[in-house]
Amino acid sequence: MDLKEIVVVGAGVMGRGIAQVAATSGFAVTMIDVDPPQLQKARAGIRDSAERLHAKGRLSDEQRAVIGKISAAEDLSAAAGADIIIEAASENPQLKEKIFAELDEVARPGVILATNTSSISITLIAAATHRPKEVVGMHFFNPVPLMKLVEIVRGLATSDQTTATAVALAQALGKTPVEANDSPGFISNRILCPMLNEAVYALMEGVGTPEAIDAVMKLGMNHPMGPLELCDLVGIDVLLHVMEVLHRDLGEDKYRPCPLLRKMVAAGRLGRKTGRGFHEYA
Ligand code: CAA
Repeated sequence: MDLKEIVVVGAGVMGRGIAQVAATSGFAVTMIDVDPPQLQKARAGIRDSAERLHAKGRLSDEQRAVIGKISAAEDLSAAAGADIIIEAASENPQLKEKIFAELDEVARPGVILATNTSSISITLIAAATHRPKEVVGMHFFNPVPLMKLVEIVRGLATSDQTTATAVALAQALGKTPVEANDSPGFISNRILCPMLNEAVYALMEGVGTPEAIDAVMKLGMNHPMGPLELCDLVGIDVLLHVMEVLHRDLGEDKYRPCPLLRKMVAAGRLGRKTGRGFHEYA
């Protein structure tokens, strides 16, 4: 693996986490987002996270200092010099196809185009390019600086070499890669999201309060967060989208998105990112 420059497309919660970890792991990093205020927010978020990790002795002075060197750009043409590109834009298949078709034009031949999608088919995204062998899923987990896993997802055409490079990169970022095949929800969300969806059904049907549902799973099952707290961290819109994909592509009633999820999204209660989901945030 001879990768020096990583370009991250999308400066939302996941994109900024990936950019932060890549920078503190010694890579040159550029974040691209069409929305300048989003890039500003990302910089502030990365600084805050790095300060917290530094205060706990988990980042050295040098690692904290490289945070200031992360470049930012508003146009995909800034990906021309990348050795690898990791896309972390919104979970919208049309948007991802458009971004990948454009990245395919901009990136040098042979450069890997990775996607952080949590549910969209890698094979579908790869089909928007002329390099499906070099398209792979690198699925990170929130909060990226703390979570150890990267799910490496192979599309139908992803080559062994591309998979091996994605595995090596995840390790170079201090993460543990685990391979999965391209199936709806991969391994992680095939299992996690139906559990979260069921917690929302339990709330809707009055089985318990949000506090009770979260307490049961934290104290009885040793989960670090309750399922409704986790819905708020992941984003209720993201969870709804994953459930829609599982329901549509696997075709079973057990994946039916809870109607309360739709209501929450319609009301703009998306979780932490909007200050209110199943819980409220200052
Ligand atoms: N950067 C740096 N530090 C951070 C941070 C971040 N982004 N987020 C939290 N921390 C720090 C906190 O500041 C805190 O530090 P102190 O101990 O010094 O106070 C420390 O981490 C622990 O945080 P908290 O005390 O607030 O809470 P905690 O002990 O519960 O740990 C957690 C937080 C690591 C997030 C833990 O609750 C956890 O593991 N939760 C589950 C997260 C999870 O399941 N993520 C996966 C979601 S699914 C997904 O992302 C993919 C998808 O496709 C849907």
